[in-house]
Amino acid sequence: MEYSDLLIETHGRVAVIRLNRPKALNALNDNMMNELGDALYKFDADPAIGCIILTGSEKAFAAGADIAAMANYDYADTFGGNYIGRNWEHILNVRKPVIGAVSGFVLGGGCELAMMCDFLIASDTTKFGQPEIRVGVTPGAGGTQRLPRTIGKSKAMDMLLTARMIDAAEAERTGLVSRVVPADKLMEEAIAVGTTIAAMSVTVAMAIKDSVNRAFETTLTEGVRYERRYFHAAFGTPAQKEGMSAFLAKRAPNFDGL
Ligand code: CAA
Repeated sequence: MEYSDLLIETHGRVAVIRLNRPKALNALNDNMMNELGDALYKFDADPAIGCIILTGSEKAFAAGADIAAMANYDYADTFGGNYIGRNWEHILNVRKPVIGAVSGFVLGGGCELAMMCDFLIASDTTKFGQPEIRVGVTPGAGGTQRLPRTIGKSKAMDMLLTARMIDAAEAERTGLVSRVVPADKLMEEAIAVGTTIAAMSVTVAMAIKDSVNRAFETTLTEGVRYERRYFHAAFGTPAQKEGMSAFLAKRAPNFDGL
């Protein structure tokens, strides 16, 4: 896969998609979001891949939507051109697990894109923020919705209304990220975590991801019913036969291709 604004690597069954516009701190433009959707869909459909990592550079995961590109937009360009609505949310259609491995600036649309990942591993140099108010706009890719659901109303309002950045330690305390690691260990840790996930049954991993995401869209009772259907269906998969027989035989399971 060749892209102008992304770099692509694979490590065994783990794919790494790296945002790559270093001169603009990985500001997210239309072309990059088209390319990101393309790469995500290709890895999602590739049976050789079990987990996807989305990352940026050490200096910036992404400093937001590209202000230079949108500065002269009018309402017709945004609503009429379906700006952001058209190609920013492909990541939400990906069924395999997507880890965000973030470092440096994770701002505005960059923070919103990070929150669309399944979970985040952050370097200790990461700064998260939703500074859109300082450039005279609201967030446009879920910042006012996913941030309060993740870190609570008070901290979300504080970040959204003051444009204050929070560091990795505060992000971990609030549940925005799952792990914080030294900057020079970020990719090593993310690939190790991705390899652990990719060694599981991809079918079961996709079911768990779908079921967790359901928790944000439904009541507890309906969500538990939804989960239970997946649990029952798991007994129709080779992964369940392999996992449980391996446990009883006291050997490691082999979920390759399951
Ligand atoms: N869009 C376009 N270019 C950007 C950018 C962005 N969001 N963020 C940084 N850049 C560019 C700068 O213009 C600069 O380019 P030049 O060298 O050509 O001048 C380059 O990246 C380096 O940036 P700085 O010189 O500003 O670097 P710094 O270390 O002094 O500051 C920063 C870093 C604090 C991240 C600062 O660049 C900044 O505040 N960026 C904007 C952050 C922002 O407001 N993001 C929200 C955008 S709106 C949005 O995202 C809407 C949405 O919800 C979808």
